[in-house]
Amino acid sequence: MDVFAKCFDFKRDLEVQAVGLYPFFKTIEGNMGSRVVIDGREVVMAGSNNYLGLTRHPKVVEAAIDATNKYGTSCSGSRYANGTYVIHVDLEERLAAFMGKPKALCFTTGYTTNMGAISVLAGRRDIILSDRENHSCIMDATQLSFAETKKYKHDDMEDLERVLEGSPADSGKLLVTDGVFSMKGTLARLPEIVKLKKRFGMRIFVDDAHGVGVVGKHGRGTAEHFGLEADVDVVMGTFSKSFAGLGGFIAGEDRVINYVKHHARQLIFAASMTPASVAAVTQSLKLMQEEPQHLENLRTVVAKVRGEFNRIGYSVGDEATPIVYIKVGEDIQAFQFWKDLLELGVYTNPVITPGVPQGQSGVRASFMAIHTDKDLARIIDAFEKLGKKYGLIK
Ligand SMILES: Cc1ncc(COP(=O)(O)O)c(C=O)c1O
Repeated sequence: MDVFAKCFDFKRDLEVQAVGLYPFFKTIEGNMGSRVVIDGREVVMAGSNNYLGLTRHPKVVEAAIDATNKYGTSCSGSRYANGTYVIHVDLEERLAAFMGKPKALCFTTGYTTNMGAISVLAGRRDIILSDRENHSCIMDATQLSFAETKKYKHDDMEDLERVLEGSPADSGKLLVTDGVFSMKGTLARLPEIVKLKKRFGMRIFVDDAHGVGVVGKHGRGTAEHFGLEADVDVVMGTFSKSFAGLGGFIAGEDRVINYVKHHARQLIFAASMTPASVAAVTQSLKLMQEEPQHLENLRTVVAKVRGEFNRIGYSVGDEATPIVYIKVGEDIQAFQFWKDLLELGVYTNPVITPGVPQGQSGVRASFMAIHTDKDLARIIDAFEKLGKKYGLIK
């Protein structure tokens, strides 16, 4: 049997391409912020995680250029060896202070942050409690860990309680959850989770990739939103979203972060964040603290757009998050809906299994501080027209 047989047998992409509905790896020819150029046409970008709109902020761009001039394009080694520059340490100190935790540690991507941290924090004889709709890098981290993983039904606190009751009282327990669920934009039920923490003696690890910089009064994320910062043991964040860079971090107790620093293979055996990214992220963090208008603008956009979606008949709630998920049905219908939106000049992202359960495929629109009223009107108009066409709204 040829080990590549599965590759030659895999035809799903070709089938979807043949009917003209393939939505992935779409090339972007130009990026002007809230508008991008696709197939030679300017469209509104409603599928980016650039929540605060900082990727083109002049100070962020300048910081990345300056750091490249000063330190070069790559650190050419891991944090453990020759890849720790003074700017990495400075960023970690600033992040710890911002997050109100004693220590922070940066990884090269958000994905490897979870892989590295979760897989070593939960070891043999420990139990990981994981929401069924957690991000795929959490799933991968749980597979890498020697701990036993117990998944609970998405957002279902009774199921979590049942799982906890069925777990040995003396085992170490790490509950891992997205703070803002990346596909559907809903918030984890942290208040209930914290109550269970107190009853069952577990530790809480929140992946706040879509929360830090976005929710909470000062943008410190989901725990700040609920006033529960002291109850969350480790917060993870990624730099590819509100921080306008590439990389990720964890923040928590000194000895806990130190343990990860000396055990996570994704940190020890992978090259460190590039100087450009470190500088862009550091500058974005400064802007989050010095220019609250970015977060305020985002909040205004989120409130406006959720209000509009609800007005035209979708039920998208009034969550504080900038991710709006519209369920369409099966994959192929979601692809068609996505394509029709693009034809109306609106780029979104299709969401299919395993990102969401079977039959819940749809599109995910995400919003940025830099969306103008004109952008929002175009987006809402397209969703209204298509919602009626597809029978999603009246
Ligand atoms: C919830 C969540 N965690 C982690 C990641 C990984 O972050 P990155 O893409 O920056 O590596 C993502 C990215 O999409 C995410 O949505």
